[in-house]
Amino acid sequence: MRQAIPNPSRDSDYFDQWYADMQVSPVKDEIMRRNLGVPEDAGPVGILAWSALDEIADALGLDDDRVLADIACGRGGYGIELARRADADLVGVDFSAVALEQARRTAQRRLPNQAEFRVGRLTETGLPAGSMDAVLCTDSVQFAEPVWAALGEFRRILRRGGALAITSWQAVTPGDERVSPRIRGLDLWRDLGQAGFDEVVVEVRPEWYAAERRLHEETVAAPNDGSDLALASLQSESVSSLERFDLVQRVVAYATAP
Ligand SMILES: C[S@@+](CC[C@H](N)C(=O)[O-])C[C@H]1O[C@@H](n2cnc3c(N)ncnc32)[C@H](O)[C@@H]1O
Repeated sequence: MRQAIPNPSRDSDYFDQWYADMQVSPVKDEIMRRNLGVPEDAGPVGILAWSALDEIADALGLDDDRVLADIACGRGGYGIELARRADADLVGVDFSAVALEQARRTAQRRLPNQAEFRVGRLTETGLPAGSMDAVLCTDSVQFAEPVWAALGEFRRILRRGGALAITSWQAVTPGDERVSPRIRGLDLWRDLGQAGFDEVVVEVRPEWYAAERRLHEETVAAPNDGSDLALASLQSESVSSLERFDLVQRVVAYATAP
């Protein structure tokens, strides 16, 4: 879902189908959980190593009277965990209604009465200006059209001094034509500065990326007679990710709203 992106417009129907296909596969779930270090009861997550949440939690500085927005939250696992650790409230936004249904199910169990999920876009969340204490966006900002509009939206919904954490991938060599256009075009340092954020930090996280490599390698090697659609979907994603793995690096960006 990341590096092999031949189609420049991946809309909500595409992601609804992707999430529907992903739903039932004990084999895929076990491979992901083990390689990303995800606890059994965390519910479905994306491809970010669970250990990343320790430093993201520190950076977001949540506590029990704060509200976290998880934008393009998918099935919600990361935002739910971060809010849960701090006893904070959570608003998850995504344009896939299928993903949000799964996020609601996890939140009912892990963050009861403190989470809501709504349909919205990276560039138009529908959340009120200045209403959020923190914004999280894991592995999704590259889908925004354009990226700078999503960053402007994050700034709009954050209160003054609110914290932003973004994870994504960037080309090792800027402009490398072998990297998919979305990732090739991403420059969070430049774009967060242009969006007017303060205290911008963008750093590479090889240890998170190493967990992804292990996950992809194990996924590709897993036997599949074609009947496990979720595993098949992840397998095709893993093949294309591994093809261009070393051209890309894992990045995390932190910033503060002025
Ligand atoms: C790679 S998944 C990441 C999901 C989640 N943040 C995670 O890390 O598990 C990308 C997510 O972005 C959502 N998405 C893509 N483009 C979007 C847009 N323009 N507006 C809202 N959500 C979008 C997709 O539905 C999908 O849930």
